[in-house]
Amino acid sequence: MKQYHIVTYGCQMNVSDSERLAHQLEEVGYTQTEVLEEADLILLNTCAVRENAETKTYSHIGELKKLKNKNPDLIIAVTGCMAQKNQAEMFKRAPHIDIVLGTHNIKHINEMVEAVRTTKSHQINVDMDNSVLPELEAKPSGTFYAWVPIMNGCNKFCTYCIVPHVRGREISRPIESIVNDVKKLGAEGYKEITLLGQNVNSYGLDFKDGTHFGTLITALDHIPGIERIRYMTSHPQDMNKEMIDALAASSNVVTQMHLPLQAGNNRILKKMNRSYTYEHYKNLVDYVREKMPDVVLTTDIIVGFPSETEEEFQDTLKAMKEIRFDMAYSFIYSPRSGTPAATMEEQISEEVKRVRLQALMDVQNEISLEINKRMENEIFEIIVEGPSQKDENIWFGRTSGNKMVLFPKDENLHIGDTVKARIDKAQTWICYGTIIH
Ligand code: SAH
Ligand code: SF4
Ligand code: F3S
Repeated sequence: MKQYHIVTYGCQMNVSDSERLAHQLEEVGYTQTEVLEEADLILLNTCAVRENAETKTYSHIGELKKLKNKNPDLIIAVTGCMAQKNQAEMFKRAPHIDIVLGTHNIKHINEMVEAVRTTKSHQINVDMDNSVLPELEAKPSGTFYAWVPIMNGCNKFCTYCIVPHVRGREISRPIESIVNDVKKLGAEGYKEITLLGQNVNSYGLDFKDGTHFGTLITALDHIPGIERIRYMTSHPQDMNKEMIDALAASSNVVTQMHLPLQAGNNRILKKMNRSYTYEHYKNLVDYVREKMPDVVLTTDIIVGFPSETEEEFQDTLKAMKEIRFDMAYSFIYSPRSGTPAATMEEQISEEVKRVRLQALMDVQNEISLEINKRMENEIFEIIVEGPSQKDENIWFGRTSGNKMVLFPKDENLHIGDTVKARIDKAQTWICYGTIIH
């Protein structure tokens, strides 16, 4: 019996691709192992969004050399965005890799593995075919939640971002395929699904028949078994009132909205090619909060974009204080070769970037704590996810807004149960609660 082990880096899109890779491998008789040393096939599904993602992966690939020396029949495959970006160069840097498989070619995994076995030679397929849809079947990795890709690719070309270069052009899946997937998942007992796309708000625009993200959200309402629909990621340019209305009217869409702002200064936004102004963003948020008063708003911010002045960075801090996000994922700008920003003049020093990141996190952490404190003594519905990482006697679940609630293990509770919890103590990142029976 052959065994495979998959390591997934990067975003949920990769997690979802890994599930598709797993399904295909199991179709030809592979079984999954959690133990790296036992695997006959190790698959690294990689990310290229920031330099440190690549460094980490190369170092992991380096470590695998020992295993390959011990077992020359071990097959090492690298898939995902870094494979797409670096292509055959990966073999040069690490000749013990057997397979380099691009983002549009995951359906070829089995034939690539077979080719390595029979020819004992490097195999690569990084062709980009922009008509590829994520229609492959998946082996869900969660017990009550599942990922549902609704589209592939990105057309936005933000000047810092590698994603459009490695994922190709936007292409949407037909509404019927998505609805069928979700109905099937609901019937199989999955209660929470996450709709995936780099820009879910441009979903369906390629059909040119008036279909949009709101149409999809409405079509997914009231599907039996589905309690929560999450979606990511939203883009402020394509998000509009019609979509917000559809989200607000839905019975199963969650209260969390992740809407990346990236920067609070209009000159920087323009240089980033984000195609909206801070004022546009603020208006959207005001409308969202009017229609969904309990919305949990999260965002992404990049600090130290080329030529960002101290004053312009202060505009971002001002924006954080004005909007008051529940949480922000903040990143130090990382030059990606092949993107316009990488060759822009006035790159910011690492030292200044680090100082700005810390200043941003200080502001945000204070706001997150203040917002979470207001949850104390309130009751929230949570879906139980299981033991926490640190202590198996402390379990956790998530609210609709995606806040993590920890509580003492309770023999009567099972993973996937929907229960009510009272928040006893709120912190910046997590809350402690009591289950109400
Ligand atoms: N499609 C999504 C997110 C894609 S990448 C969107 O448009 O929002 C996730 C986040 O990584 C981005 O929102 C951005 O904040 C960050 N990111 C992307 N490229 C980066 C780079 N070169 N350096 C630092 N952060 C980056
Ligand atoms: Fe990257 Fe911009 Fe596309 Fe998001 S919208 S994936 S940040 S290019
Ligand atoms: Fe990384 Fe690719 Fe996702 S670059 S963030 S894994 S789309």
